[in-house]
Amino acid sequence: MNVLRIIPFLIFLSIALTGYSADEVPLRELAAKRGMLIGAAANMMIQRGTQYAETLAREMNILTPENELKFHRTHPAEDRYDFQNADALVDFAETNGMKVRGHTLIWHQSIPRWMRDREWTRDELLNVMRDHIQAVAGRYKGRIYAWDVVNEYFDNKGEPRKSLWSETLGSAYMEYAHHFALEADPSAKLIVNEYDIENINAKSDGMYRRVKDYVDRGVPVDGVGFQMHVLYDWRFDADEFARNLQRFADLGLEIHITELDVRIKQPVTPEKLKKQADLYAAILRTCLDQPACKVFIMWGFTDRFSWIPFTFKGFGDGLIFDRDFQPKPAYEAIHEVLSR
Ligand code: G3I
Repeated sequence: MNVLRIIPFLIFLSIALTGYSADEVPLRELAAKRGMLIGAAANMMIQRGTQYAETLAREMNILTPENELKFHRTHPAEDRYDFQNADALVDFAETNGMKVRGHTLIWHQSIPRWMRDREWTRDELLNVMRDHIQAVAGRYKGRIYAWDVVNEYFDNKGEPRKSLWSETLGSAYMEYAHHFALEADPSAKLIVNEYDIENINAKSDGMYRRVKDYVDRGVPVDGVGFQMHVLYDWRFDADEFARNLQRFADLGLEIHITELDVRIKQPVTPEKLKKQADLYAAILRTCLDQPACKVFIMWGFTDRFSWIPFTFKGFGDGLIFDRDFQPKPAYEAIHEVLSR
């Protein structure tokens, strides 16, 4: 059979399944030409959803397991690890020529019950931290582009937030984690990941002071992650955001946009979708204009799977594909910025 004869059918199938026009260049190809990693948080729908898996693999060249590399998922019991789902997501990425961001080794949330239900001495908890990081980061050694080593270390004043980790190990627990992560996987970039630091404020100032101290003292750190969970009508100041990125870049650090979504207050209207698209485009342009900004990851890619409605009642539609995997204005806006 002449294979060429089925190509029109395959193009029709691609459009029919995803509404995607096969003649549009996927985001990942445009991003690669700009030396940019563009991606999304991903879940186990990679095994259960054809459209989900196809869209993710077609458009993105990096993924972050949304939940499957978190402490409670990989280390459900003190003497037991479970990597089944994390393995599936890392394998999926590698099969589809995608890099992986590891999220996250240490966090004040996702602490499993076996850790919450007892008291810990400093030495006991430090051993748990070391063993966990060696087991998890060690398992994927050489396969993770970057780790969010400690997630959301800071409070809104830029000080270490109170947590099991800070209360038991002191504020230095983050640098212990970075040293353990370097030992476990010297190839992975070690990132300090945070939310609400887009503007120059007490929190981003506190983060800047801490990572500058790490750089000055030789604590292993390679970059900072800006989560960027924002509102569609956020008054985005591109100049302030660029200045904020620049001060971290001046430390020799990579900048990662790690969890971008732009939530919309229901009901969704064409005007709100346009505002959302403009915001996605403006953030991406600021990242592209900053040579140290290497990663642009959204916290999901289809509105069918997003944390937003469960957390922000009356909000949703924060991503670039709709619930039926149709590209939204935000997708077209990103595509246009990358095409320039
Ligand atoms: O999979 C179980 C399901 O079996 C069960 O029936 C259901 C009801 O209990 O829970 C499901 O697990 C939920 C999981 O998301 C998958 O949907 C957990 O309860 C829920 O806590 C978990 O929420 C995640 C949240 O982090 C807490 O880990 C969100 O999906 C995830 O998007 C969110 O992501 C965080 C980043 O890690 C850090 N930055 C902020 C961001 C948003 O909160």
